[in-house]
Amino acid sequence: MEKFAFILHPLVVDDFARKFPILRYVPDSFIEGAMKHVGPIKVSHITGVKSPYATAEGWFIACPLTARQMLTLPEEYVTDKIIEAGKLAQDLGAKIVGLGAFTSIVGDAGITIAKNLDIAVTSGNSYTVATALQGTEEAIKCLGRDIAEANVTIVGATGSIGAACAKMLARKVKHMTLVARHKTPLEELAQELDRQVRCGVSVSSDITASLKDADVVITVTSAVDCLIEPGDLKAGAVVCDVARPRNVSKVVSSSRKDVLVIEGGVIKVPGDVDFGFNFGFPPRTSYACMAETMLLALEGRYENFTLGRNITIEQIKTISALADKHNFELAGFRNFERPVTAEEIAVVRQVWTQKLVMGHA
Ligand SMILES: NC(=O)c1ccc[n+]([C@@H]2O[C@H](COP(=O)([O-])OP(=O)(O)OC[C@H]3O[C@@H](n4cnc5c(N)ncnc54)[C@H](OP(=O)(O)O)[C@@H]3O)[C@@H](O)[C@H]2O)c1
Repeated sequence: MEKFAFILHPLVVDDFARKFPILRYVPDSFIEGAMKHVGPIKVSHITGVKSPYATAEGWFIACPLTARQMLTLPEEYVTDKIIEAGKLAQDLGAKIVGLGAFTSIVGDAGITIAKNLDIAVTSGNSYTVATALQGTEEAIKCLGRDIAEANVTIVGATGSIGAACAKMLARKVKHMTLVARHKTPLEELAQELDRQVRCGVSVSSDITASLKDADVVITVTSAVDCLIEPGDLKAGAVVCDVARPRNVSKVVSSSRKDVLVIEGGVIKVPGDVDFGFNFGFPPRTSYACMAETMLLALEGRYENFTLGRNITIEQIKTISALADKHNFELAGFRNFERPVTAEEIAVVRQVWTQKLVMGHA
């Protein structure tokens, strides 16, 4: 039996209060302060992961800091807390540990954490990229659109996931706009990709302006607040929100019937899997980053896999091939804890087409 673990954390204080309802009456600042003194927690035992080639079990481990704390507390302190969680994974018998949400964003994106553990570490970001792009391309086709004719905007383009998405899409799309706050890394990436993109690459730090003409948006920042509002988007746009916490405001889907919003990387896991913990997905489905950790365990590849902020195309191809081998696949489109139905997609297509005909798109 192969063994893995995955480190989670509360994205916001409410996640913690949902688990312990009594905390609903306690101020957020008090809960965050108290969480700093809590060590890692074994959340659940994961059973039943079974591919045609191997079986695996694992554990969810919580590192009790919110996304905001992970970004604002001293880096060394946060890294030490994540290492402590990794050591609990090690003690439970895991041979590889995956870094969920902001635990792979802190500092050097997992490199220091891996150096301080005796087991393998992965961020899961290679499979997150592969499946976000697969989902986005399928969604574009559902609207009857062609990615080769699309203006694509990547928000969070200089990050681990964003830069890899940009590299993977460069030769497929018409024009690309790369968005982040810091100009120098944006310009370096644009220079690298400019000749590969048919109509070139632009850079911007103005999210609203960068979305005005975007047919496709991939948003994958480490921001803790929503960045994309209904009025920002073009009719007929496909938006893939990979970020956790989400970058796209919840009201976009309810108020823009001409826009298709999907979440990146929701994966059907093979076997009669019981995660022992409800993270808002239907049974037997997981985030792509969790799936990458399971895949490496099933394959017995107990080696550091995705670490740092330079994911290669080779890593993405390798993990995609392992997913095919072990029967992991995309679990359809989802948005805010619910499936996006074929009827909803048909409405988006219809409303957008009407706007096109009327000259409003
Ligand atoms: N769905 C999944 O399965 C899955 C898996 C793994 C990770 N994630 C999520 O993916 C997100 C990104 O992860 P990552 O590892 O790629 O992070 P990362 O390497 O730290 O990159 C973050 C990117 O966002 C940009 N950014 C941050 N704040 C911004 C803002 N306010 N406005 C515009 N750009 C901003 C950063 O550039 P600047 O600093 O220059 O702005 C950078 O380009 C996180 O939300 C994480 O939780 C999801």
